[in-house]
Amino acid sequence: MTETLERWSSRRAFILAVTGAAVGLGNIWRFPYMTGENGGAVFLLLYVAFVVSLGLPVMMAEIMIGRAGRRSPMQSLAYLAHQAEASPHWRWLGVFGGVTVFFILSFYSVVSGWSIEFLIEAVNGDFVGLGPAEIGANFDAFLADPLRMTFNHTLFLLLTMSVVAAGVAGGLEKLNNLMMPLLYVLLVVLVIYAASTDGFGQALTWLLRPDLSALSVGVVLNALGHAFFTLAVGACALMAYGAYMPDHQSLPRAVGAVAVLDVAVALLAGVAIFSVVFSQGMDPGEGPGLMFVTLPIAFAELPWGSLWLGIFFLLLLLATWTSSINLAEPMVATLQGMGLRRSRATALVAVAVWLAGLLSVLSFSTMAEVDWLAGMNFFELVTTVPTDVFLPIGGLLIAIFAAWVMPRSTALRALDAGPNGFRVWQALLRYVSIPLTLIVLLSGLI
Ligand code: PHE
Ligand code: NA
Repeated sequence: MTETLERWSSRRAFILAVTGAAVGLGNIWRFPYMTGENGGAVFLLLYVAFVVSLGLPVMMAEIMIGRAGRRSPMQSLAYLAHQAEASPHWRWLGVFGGVTVFFILSFYSVVSGWSIEFLIEAVNGDFVGLGPAEIGANFDAFLADPLRMTFNHTLFLLLTMSVVAAGVAGGLEKLNNLMMPLLYVLLVVLVIYAASTDGFGQALTWLLRPDLSALSVGVVLNALGHAFFTLAVGACALMAYGAYMPDHQSLPRAVGAVAVLDVAVALLAGVAIFSVVFSQGMDPGEGPGLMFVTLPIAFAELPWGSLWLGIFFLLLLLATWTSSINLAEPMVATLQGMGLRRSRATALVAVAVWLAGLLSVLSFSTMAEVDWLAGMNFFELVTTVPTDVFLPIGGLLIAIFAAWVMPRSTALRALDAGPNGFRVWQALLRYVSIPLTLIVLLSGLI
């Protein structure tokens, strides 16, 4: 198969696309509850340290591979491995990435569907005047209703796939251009609001003053998995976007901007959520329900609560939409590379992901007790193993391929950071990112 001719229309369009992929449930849903469960500032510090020491270099490696191959992830890996006279089996890394994004997208779509539900309920004013118990019961009733959940999951997947089907130049790019700036505006509005609540000071302390007694191997591991997840690294998803990267754009500079934005969005969302949590005297260690349960409770008691809540879930929906498009792209690009028409490839992926998503939907009702692995139901399985195990393994292999397997000249050109930039990046990968990921991963599995 030959090189793709598609390109993002500008450098800015590329940065927006990668930011859109990075910023999502990871920042707004997962970051707050993981921080709440893992001791606050300690988790935040570790996650930022991992973003810098291995998230960033591996992200550059992943996009660089896509850019050098200019094909779908699997086909880029096969092509570059051939060029380096390395094993053709490297292409299985692309398949492994496909499996990872498949499972992530299947739950991502279901959870994103929750924000559609909450957006509609907030706009309807359904939360007005409800107390904490009623709001909790309302969420439980929603989770226990597979039909309503399936409806939202279907709607979200249709939103995603309608953009994917249109292809990069048409669909993805227009959407990103519109949504990312809107997202930042909404976030800043929310934080200004949060600054007016009583819990603001406490939220800042919780996020910024580390309590070292909270440190443990588990916290380190969670921070590692989260660094990969939030940057969208390790699943070959960004590799697919790299294939459309314009010539003459320094990769480190572009990716640096994305990482700063990704961390900034997580921090802003964290400040907003924990301000509300603390001003209502709630528990930060609530778990995955943190955002979906506590925010409606808190906002319902505040003036203009439904409006703020609606804004928040609109924001979440926009952020998850651009991420899910990125999750779908490598699967669609691979099928397209195998000769399928794009529309047909998109439909095929949509149906498969939709079906797998049903298992997550049912994990809250009829299949709640079904043990898929080590006592986990399907939703628990797909929200942990692909993120905490598959992404670090994928990231590790991507780093090895970029730093040790690819010919220097090809990598140098695709990184576009000059010979010195290249040397620093390669040394970082070889002597920091790869050993660090290995150590944390191994100590976690043992
Ligand atoms: N980075 C996205 C988020 O934070 C999730 C994601 C993971 C997207 C892996 C693509 C690949 O929500
Ligand atoms: Na993210």
